[in-house]
Amino acid sequence: MKKNILITGGAGFIGSHVVRLFVNKYPQYNIFNLDALTYAGNLENLTDMSDKENYTFLKGDITNIDFVNSIFAKFNFDGVIHLAAESHVDRSITNPMEFINTNIVGTVVLLNAAKENWKNDFSNKLFYHISTDEVYGSLGETGFFKETTNYDPQSPYSASKASSDHLVRAYNNTYKLPIVISNCSNNYGSHQFPEKLIPLSINNIKNNKPIPIYGKGDNIRDWLFVEDHANAIDVIFHKGKNGETYNIGGINEWTNLDLIHKLCEVMDKKLGREPETSKKLITFVTDRAGHDKRYAIDASKLTKELGWKPSLQFEEGIEKTVDWYLNNEDWVKNIVSGDYAKYYESMYKNR
Ligand code: NAD
Ligand code: TYD
Repeated sequence: MKKNILITGGAGFIGSHVVRLFVNKYPQYNIFNLDALTYAGNLENLTDMSDKENYTFLKGDITNIDFVNSIFAKFNFDGVIHLAAESHVDRSITNPMEFINTNIVGTVVLLNAAKENWKNDFSNKLFYHISTDEVYGSLGETGFFKETTNYDPQSPYSASKASSDHLVRAYNNTYKLPIVISNCSNNYGSHQFPEKLIPLSINNIKNNKPIPIYGKGDNIRDWLFVEDHANAIDVIFHKGKNGETYNIGGINEWTNLDLIHKLCEVMDKKLGREPETSKKLITFVTDRAGHDKRYAIDASKLTKELGWKPSLQFEEGIEKTVDWYLNNEDWVKNIVSGDYAKYYESMYKNR
C-alpha cells in the first residue's frame, strides 16, 4: 500500500539506518526524513539515499510548531517513526535544558500535529516512538528490564526520554492516538558519532590516544548491532499492536572494561599491531555523575509475539564496525575537524 512516512532524526546514527532500510525495502512508501542537523545529524550518513525517488529530506526542528504543522498538512503522513532526540548522557549532565526542549517539547509538538492531522480518521495511522532502556533506571547484578518494569530514570537524558514515553502513552489513552513504543539497549555500528564509548575508543586507539574509562570500568551495558535495531523497528512498525511497548535487546552484556579489551584485540589485529598493544592506552578517569550500574533487557515479548531476534553475534558485529570506521576515515575526519575537538577538551580535560 502507498504510504507517506515521516522519520524524525533520520540524519543521526540509528535514524540513518532506519531511513536506508525503509527506502530500499519499501519502494511503495515515500520516506520523509525530518532532521534539524544538530551536531549529531550528518547528511553524509545518507549519501546513498540522495538519488532515491521515494526519499525526501526536510530540514527542520521538531520543536517548531508552525513548521511541523505545515509539513503534516502538506504531506498527509500515514505514519511517524520518531527518533529525533538529544541522545548523549554526558551532554545531558552539562546541558539538561536542550534535552527537555527536544525530547519532551519536540515530542509533544509531533503528537499534537499527528492528532490534529489525523483526527477525522485514526485508522491505518501510527505514531511510533523510539525510546531507550535507560528509562527503567539501573539494575543490580541480576534481573532484566521487562516492559512492565517501573520507570526509574536516573539521568537528565533518561528522565527526558521517560517523560516523552509517558506523554506518548497519555495521547493514546486520552485521544486514542494509535501508538507503539520500543525501548532498546545500547546500539553500536557504523555512523555513530564518536562521543559514544565504542566509536570514541576506536578513534582514540587508531590515533594512539588514551581510552578514557569511567570509574573502574565495571558498569554493564547490553549491546545491539544497529542494523538489528533497524530491523526490529521495521517489524514493530508493521506488526506491533496499538498501545503496546516492546523491549529490544542484544542478549549481549559486557562490562565496559571487557568490551574495551575485546575492542583493543580487534583493533590490534586490524591495524597490524602486536597483540596487547592498544590495551596500554586504557586510562581510568573520574566516573560519570550518577552513573547507572547495569542495563539488561528481556526482549522475549518481541521475540514471542512478533518473531524478531538479533541476527549478529557481537564478535562479528564489532569487526564490521571497526572495519567501517577504518574504511571511512573521511567521515571521521569531517566530524573531528569541527566542534568535536572543543567538546572533547571540555568533557575530558578535568577527568
Ligand atoms: P543521534 O544523536 O545520533 O541522532 C539524533 C538525530 O536527531 C540527529 O540527526 C539530530 O540532528 C536530530 N535532532 C536532534 N534534535 C532535533 C530537533 N530538535 N529537531 C529535529 N531533529 C533533531 O541519536 P541516536 O543514537 O541515533 O538515537 C536515535 C533515537 O534512538 C533517540 O531517540 C534515542 O533516544 C534512541 N535510542 C538510542 C540508543 C543508542 O544506543 N544510541 C539506544 C536506544 C534508544
Ligand atoms: P555511552 O556510549 O555514552 O552510552 P550510555 O551512557 O547511553 O550507556 O557509554 C557506554 C558506557 O561507557 C557507559 O557505562 C559510560 C561508559 N563510558 C566510558 O567509560 N568512557 C567514555 O568516554 C564514554 C563516552 C562512556
